Amino acid sequence: MPDATNLSFGVDVGGSGIKGGIIDLDTGEMVGDRHKVLTPQPSTPEAVAAGVAEVVEHFDWTGPVGITLPGVVTDGTMRTAANIDKGWIGTDVYQLFGTTLGDRRLSVLNDADAAGMAEDRFGGGAGVDGVVMLLTLGTGIGSAILINGTLVPNTELGHMIIHGKEAEHQASSKVKEDKGWSYEKWTHKLSRVLEAYEALFWPKLFIVGGGISRKSDKWIPLLTNSTPVVPATLRNTAGIVGAAMAVDTGLRT
Ligand code: BGC
Repeated sequence: MPDATNLSFGVDVGGSGIKGGIIDLDTGEMVGDRHKVLTPQPSTPEAVAAGVAEVVEHFDWTGPVGITLPGVVTDGTMRTAANIDKGWIGTDVYQLFGTTLGDRRLSVLNDADAAGMAEDRFGGGAGVDGVVMLLTLGTGIGSAILINGTLVPNTELGHMIIHGKEAEHQASSKVKEDKGWSYEKWTHKLSRVLEAYEALFWPKLFIVGGGISRKSDKWIPLLTNSTPVVPATLRNTAGIVGAAMAVDTGLRT
């Protein structure tokens, strides 16, 4: 196992997979391969914690571990679970992961917050001053707001009511898929969501992530909001990189 001070470890817990790997914090790059196990169904805290341990053990990694979860984490407790087993609500996440990962430093944070930290430092937001907003467009919509690299955690803008409906219920990539919408139809909805966000937060830049950002050349040009929108560049490693960054700094949200 590589062991240098600039290496850290992140695990990103998503609806379909639990992915992790060793991250070089100087470059934001993965050292070696990413390892993925399927997210257990039902995705209960105990089952997911076992999956996270499996990913960590795959690398024989014994150092600190950062972990993302798709919900609000405050004071070491998971508060919401919009797209994961409801058993997470009220779970003491440090106790949970401490049980399967043993006595080591851990940071547990929201998935979009982690992706935002990574994209802001190493990806689409690198070199941009001021307020940057990252949105993950997947099963739900995750959000992260950063100012000059500092995160405001747990913003949860995917649940903002816009034109009478939660943003993630009208503009996530899952909604596009479920309804069979064209990019034109979907970007119309997404533009309205971005317009609502920019009217309140006035970011310098939106970074859009999630699987659909891989085809961003097909739809970013169709957006009609004012603020520039760029695709996430770290692709499927942003959450892992952000988790690794978080534990390195000892972040607790
Ligand atoms: C959750 C957020 C999460 C996002 C993406 C939303 O439904 O409330 O916490 O960041 O989905 O996973």
